[in-house]
Amino acid sequence: MTESLNRTDRDIAAAASLLRDGKLVAFGTETVYGLGADATNALAVAAIFEAKGRPLFNPLICHYESAEAAFADVLASPLAERLADTFWPGPLTLVLPRLKTCPVALLAGAGLETLAIRVPAHPVAQRLIAALGRPVAAPSANRSGGISPTTAAHVLASLEGRIAAIIDSGPCRVGLESTVLDLSGPAPVLLRPGGVNLEALEASIGCKLSAISHQPQAPHSPGMMRSHYAPRLPLRINATSIQPNEALLAFGPPIPGARLTFQLSARENLNEAASKLFEGLHWLDNTAPAHALTAIAAMPIPTHAVGRAITDRLSRAATPFDN
Ligand code: TXA
Ligand code: MG
Repeated sequence: MTESLNRTDRDIAAAASLLRDGKLVAFGTETVYGLGADATNALAVAAIFEAKGRPLFNPLICHYESAEAAFADVLASPLAERLADTFWPGPLTLVLPRLKTCPVALLAGAGLETLAIRVPAHPVAQRLIAALGRPVAAPSANRSGGISPTTAAHVLASLEGRIAAIIDSGPCRVGLESTVLDLSGPAPVLLRPGGVNLEALEASIGCKLSAISHQPQAPHSPGMMRSHYAPRLPLRINATSIQPNEALLAFGPPIPGARLTFQLSARENLNEAASKLFEGLHWLDNTAPAHALTAIAAMPIPTHAVGRAITDRLSRAATPFDN
């Protein structure tokens, strides 16, 4: 049984106490729902991998209450501190070398010498981490390879019965995972485009960021595996026409003739589209079969600002899940 909790002080304290006991609690962040465990408890962290069916080589993000707390566990740099000043709390994850004194379980970082850290902006996430008084390791709260959850209902649909509790934190504002930036090497590397505006990030760093290419065999950042975020139905991207068996994921004026449409943003607003992307994929995946539709066609999305993260997720979702 998965317990449903609310945002009251009492329920947040109950959730923190479950985490302290090594249990798993899903909670809202501004990006997507996270599946949280006490990051310093290796058994609890192992339970995350088990509940998600996640490969052990794919490391987790550690969520902190403040930049100060986060930087106590890693070797920060002036650039890291500047980016934290500008983008935290918020949808930016920084990968930095972990310190010898870092209390986070090695399994959370999949045994790597680096650690991914983030200070989330959502009040529920902040209150939960503060109540626990330790970092919270949290991947997206879905079964591995599935679509990330942006509502409590999405979380329950894939993890009900596998986790101790969920805090209903409302729909996620950003709707896409955080931007992951590797600062552990000589130059910053964008491991995953995400909720932060890319041009704003580049302006802050002072150079253009090139995304690393997909590496399905030995992924530098395992979340970069091509087949990620996949709906069950096959997905065709950059569609400018519709087939009789397809449901439509629309951006702007829909392609005429679609029998079932989910509109990401009628006014072609990229932030609105990002916030609805996973909701749309979940909805089409669940609704299309009742209309005898067997595939999803997604209209083209511009690739500037958060559009780059949207097209990144769609192209991964379009690659058949093969493991
Ligand atoms: O918005 C988000 O980032 C959400 C919320 C819950 O914070 N979390 C999330 O976690 O998306 P997850 O586990 O689904 O994605 C974490 C990504 C993965 O691509 C993982 O490979 C990468 O971060 N990552 C984590 N630690 C890393 C490290 N030390 N080096 C390189 N990549 C790392
Ligand atoms: Mg994920």
